[in-house]
Amino acid sequence: MKYQYAEKMLEAELEILIHSFEKKHGYTPVEHVKKRMKTESSIRKKLEKKGYEFTEENIEKHVSDVLGFRIVVSFLSDVYDIVSLVSHSPNIILKERKDYIASPKETGYTSYHLIVLVPIYLENMVEYIPAEIQVRTVAMDFWASLDHKIRYKFKESIPEEVKKEMENYAKDIQELDRKMYYLNQIMSKYQ
Ligand code: GTP
Ligand code: MG
Repeated sequence: MKYQYAEKMLEAELEILIHSFEKKHGYTPVEHVKKRMKTESSIRKKLEKKGYEFTEENIEKHVSDVLGFRIVVSFLSDVYDIVSLVSHSPNIILKERKDYIASPKETGYTSYHLIVLVPIYLENMVEYIPAEIQVRTVAMDFWASLDHKIRYKFKESIPEEVKKEMENYAKDIQELDRKMYYLNQIMSKYQ
């Protein structure tokens, strides 16, 4: 229930932040926003992997992505604008940031992750519920969803050949995002 409250709070907060950004800058950086709540069995698996029992306390302490939002934007610069917007919001607390664009994961995965704490008001006390917000471009999202399918198909044993290709495509994606950013800058001269 607490996570459902936090989901509503965060969804409303993101909507307002993005909307006010659009009003101020006169353009829409966000392509789409997705949210998901981890299933109980997936939370169990994650705790088990980390060596913790399935208790409410351990979930709150060790699983920061029970609640997850993904914000997909057009341009690389939009990623940083959205990150800045969210991290400066007075209504949520920034706990952690991971810039996998500056430092991609070994797989080639790129995205900007924020772990935030969302205040929820229960009777006369406040509780802080963690949530993970992933911010990425359409190109990064394309790569990540293909990667996800590959992981699902091969489970733990992805063929080297496939891994190598995906690493290469990750570089192509980064290059494409840079080009699109460049084009966006050219275009802005004409507005
Ligand atoms: P967790 O224990 O899963 O949280 O791993 P972590 O803390 O090492 O990684 P992090 O929290 O930074 O990223 C976790 C999330 O990022 C995952 O749930 C995925 O959504 C996404 N992610 C991270 N690496 C990859 C990857 O190689 N491929 C894809 N498709 N997604 C990834
Ligand atoms: Mg994590």
